[in-house]
Amino acid sequence: MVNLSQLPKVTIKFAQTLDGKIATIKNESRWISGKKSLVFAHKLRSQNQAILVGIGTIRKDDPHLTIRMVKGENPQKIILDSKLSIGLNFKVLKKYPQKTIIATTNQAPLKKIKKLEKLGAKVLVVKRAKRGVDLYDLLKKLKKQKINSILVEGGAEVITSFLKKMLFNRIIIVIAPKVFGKGKNNIDQREIKRAFKPFLFSSRRIYKLENDVIFDGILDKSKKTNC
Ligand SMILES: NC(=O)c1ccc[n+]([C@@H]2O[C@H](COP(=O)([O-])OP(=O)(O)OC[C@H]3O[C@@H](n4cnc5c(N)ncnc54)[C@H](OP(=O)(O)O)[C@@H]3O)[C@@H](O)[C@H]2O)c1
Repeated sequence: MVNLSQLPKVTIKFAQTLDGKIATIKNESRWISGKKSLVFAHKLRSQNQAILVGIGTIRKDDPHLTIRMVKGENPQKIILDSKLSIGLNFKVLKKYPQKTIIATTNQAPLKKIKKLEKLGAKVLVVKRAKRGVDLYDLLKKLKKQKINSILVEGGAEVITSFLKKMLFNRIIIVIAPKVFGKGKNNIDQREIKRAFKPFLFSSRRIYKLENDVIFDGILDKSKKTNC
């Protein structure tokens, strides 16, 4: 068991429909929420030292991960990619290699590590977990690199991993008044007996932003993680 205070501050943030989808069945997620929520999301990015996403989101969205809608300095980008399968043509590598850290494991081919480093990206090798990179080891290593605040933006697999391990301090869910029916579920939890314990929040805010509803909860700091 570890205490969250030894790790960077982690905020999980995602946008979902009323029926809990973060993307359509065709993997489209732009944009689920309204304009004001998008500006809010960019403001949140500007308040964190790094934005973290999984390789699935890079493949499906090819995002910039910048703060185009607000002023400030662009945060670092952290990509979880345990086999280092990332293509060199994605925007994060083509446009912002110096700002990009790829978290991988010993499954990464050495040749690819060298290629990425040549581009200017940083490759961080961390322990392997059952599913992808070991998040606890990653957070410890990022803290050592003086990264003290991280915004986890998705996608579903990555959010699920952070929630399962309880490795977060704050969670923000933007709920848009839309329904996708079939699509990408926000969380992948198949069995009720393994379902997350109820989260205990030290503070909770629920408010409207244009047509969206924002849930913003700070996890009770006395809670331990599930690592
Ligand atoms: N609505 C929103 O707010 C929002 C935000 C972001 C994305 N999205 C949508 O989400 C979808 C992508 O989600 P996704 O679930 O397919 O992919 P994802 O969560 O972005 O990435 C999952 C991949 O990350 C790698 N990974 C490495 N370590 C991991 C760990 N500890 N836990 C989990 N994954 C780890 C794994 O690949 P390896 O095994 O190869 O390492 C895994 O398959 C897209 O449709 C995108 O549009 C929506």
